Amino acid sequence: APVPPPDQKSCGTATITDGPAVPYSCCPPKPDDMDSVPYYKIPRMSKLRKRPPAQDVSEEYIAKYQLATSKMRELDKDPFDPLGFKQQANIHCAYCNDAYTMGDQKLQVHESWLFFPFHRWYLYFYERILGSLIDDPTFALPYWNWDHPSGMRLPPMFDVEGSSLYDARRNPHVRNGTIIDLGFFGDEVKTNEIQMITNNLLLMYRQMITNAPCPLLFFGEPYRFGSKPNPGQGTIENIPHTPVHIWTGTVRCTDLGNCVPSYGEDMGNFYSAGLDPVFYSHHANVDRMWNEWKALGGKRRDLTDNDWLNSEFFFYDENRDPWRVKVRDCLDSKKMGYDYEPKATPWRNFKP
Ligand code: C2O
Repeated sequence: APVPPPDQKSCGTATITDGPAVPYSCCPPKPDDMDSVPYYKIPRMSKLRKRPPAQDVSEEYIAKYQLATSKMRELDKDPFDPLGFKQQANIHCAYCNDAYTMGDQKLQVHESWLFFPFHRWYLYFYERILGSLIDDPTFALPYWNWDHPSGMRLPPMFDVEGSSLYDARRNPHVRNGTIIDLGFFGDEVKTNEIQMITNNLLLMYRQMITNAPCPLLFFGEPYRFGSKPNPGQGTIENIPHTPVHIWTGTVRCTDLGNCVPSYGEDMGNFYSAGLDPVFYSHHANVDRMWNEWKALGGKRRDLTDNDWLNSEFFFYDENRDPWRVKVRDCLDSKKMGYDYEPKATPWRNFKP
């Protein structure tokens, strides 16, 4: 059977793991009547939202995005406003840190075939909320174009102290245009920029092409009602998705050595990842890889298993209305009202 939308009535305390477990509250405001939450219908749009590569946008675009994000942060004054920045970050925590149960298991959207559709719907509403806060119905999130040499660093707009897009809880090595290591799991690699870029392109070729010739390898292992968490991740979720999180978050330090204890916040831990605005640009590019992968053709198509197609999530929209959404309604980003500004994909022919 498919995964039903998480029952909001039973949302409980989440757990920060990866070190001594710490309780953390991240449940969303509960709708009055969970059983009558309606199914979402994609509103008609006259114009597509076009998500641009973050390194190429204009000053004007950056100012708009900063403004939208600071308006969202202001909504945190009411900690129960579902549109507040912290509430939006808490969505990730609730679905990923054991706040919800499914049957007699904890619900976990990572390391399974729910990874791509869950994050797609999450960004969809996040983007609509930002757009509505600045009265721009065509506002589109920028994507962190880490699969292209010109995007293999933290996009500069996120590296301005005092801006709503800044997050002080990042590893200092991400600042000032350092080239990212898309295979980063905690060890700094000593190499030059050209070599790092070459490694990154090779790794993209492997994860998109060699290692993901068919749907289950790309999306991840089946996860149904009652499944145990973490059945297995797809190629892109594993690398570079996770390394980008770890590379951006603070240096992990969970024992009492002589560094400040950290669980990798913000980007390097599920419960806190959404507290870094760059999270949504990172995931926009992950989402773009879903489209790019299908465009490669052959057996690279969406899954057809009904348990995947009929799995559901729960979100608030920009009007604070609660909805249930289905995986089957998020397979075509254009039908959802957005697309990506094209950018070359040099990894495509980067055979070892
Ligand atoms: Cu939900 Cu990038 O993790």
